[in-house]
Amino acid sequence: MNKHNFIQYGKPYYGSEEDKQVKKVLNSNWIGTGPISQKFEKNFSEYKKVNYAKSLNSCTAALHLSLLLLNLKKNDEVITTPLTFAATINSIILAGGKPVLVDIRNDTYNIDEKKIEKKITRKTKAILLVHFGGIPCDMDPIIKIANKYNLKIIEDCAHAIESKYKNKNTGSFGFTGCFSFYANKNITTGEGGMLICKDKNIAKKIEIMRLHGLSRDAWKRYMPQEKIPKAGLVWDHYDIKYVGLKYNMIDINAALGISQLKKITSMLKERNKLVKEYNKHLKHLPVFFQNTNSYKFKNAHHLFTIVLDKKRTKKKRDYLLRYLNEEGIGVGVNYRSVTSMSCYKKLFKWNNQTCKNANYIGNNILSLPLYPGLKKKEQQYIIKKLKKFFDN
Ligand SMILES: Cc1ncc(COP(=O)(O)O)c(C=O)c1O
Repeated sequence: MNKHNFIQYGKPYYGSEEDKQVKKVLNSNWIGTGPISQKFEKNFSEYKKVNYAKSLNSCTAALHLSLLLLNLKKNDEVITTPLTFAATINSIILAGGKPVLVDIRNDTYNIDEKKIEKKITRKTKAILLVHFGGIPCDMDPIIKIANKYNLKIIEDCAHAIESKYKNKNTGSFGFTGCFSFYANKNITTGEGGMLICKDKNIAKKIEIMRLHGLSRDAWKRYMPQEKIPKAGLVWDHYDIKYVGLKYNMIDINAALGISQLKKITSMLKERNKLVKEYNKHLKHLPVFFQNTNSYKFKNAHHLFTIVLDKKRTKKKRDYLLRYLNEEGIGVGVNYRSVTSMSCYKKLFKWNNQTCKNANYIGNNILSLPLYPGLKKKEQQYIIKKLKKFFDN
């Protein structure tokens, strides 16, 4: 392997359809947020079978806005998982809340629903879930707890666009569902996100908050009819309704999203095939795989992770990361536990005893390349190198 045939960790799967749709936007008179973003929202809400979908420039934006809508007071708490990306934790802090961690399950690597209730206090306002890797959290018991204590559920679905829990779509269980279309996600717009919800008032507020708090969509001001003031008015001025942000998706990105959504099913089939092949050839290695038999679900297979089993091997995860990289294979670490991050350690006094399962998994996990477009030959090479690492 040399740098010309390095196997990338993640890769988008674009074709002529994306080309055509983006060119259409480029050749139109408007490339900002507009009709194409609206069309992507409509298509996404139909795909997820929810009333409202609001396009944003990231999943982080969706999480931040969801949390801002809770109007958290000082020291209000939001329960969440330690095995996640910084965006989950940062959004809570930036919305004025305090993240409270509940350790993960050893099979799904999702928040352990059995440990949530013990962490609830009078200050708890919400549970922020992450459907890690594409396997949904065990929603039935979590919804029961949320109802009992009057807590809002926010779903971080960055890994779980296609996922279902007992035939119900992820993102549609609680207050909001937050999706990512970042460059390595199952469908991608380069950067991008979507917030879905059932409630019209939440949707309306998100629409305003994502664009500075403006009372009406800025893009409509560029259309001829918007220049005509309402009867009786000399000029229909915009207002600022709330202290908003700049979190809107633009039509160039939405054009990519529309094209990607059309192939979401066929792309997931490719992921499924790759996962089967990894499972078949790697099952004898001294590693754990993420899965569960305890409820029915559809897996979006965003990640293919392995966790080194310290009881069966003395090999170290970090040596494996380095070895694979040297052999021309891109790898990811999703994730180190947030309890090992210096910033949070300082803020919340988290340490490696705070969430023991997450700590073990965070220290021993790695993600292998998994995307449609990963060639059979490349996957065989990855498998061969992994076996060699453990054999030696
Ligand atoms: C679990 C999780 N939440 C949130 C995010 C943030 O997504 P975005 O990059 O679209 O803001 C990511 C990104 O990788 C993620 O993995």
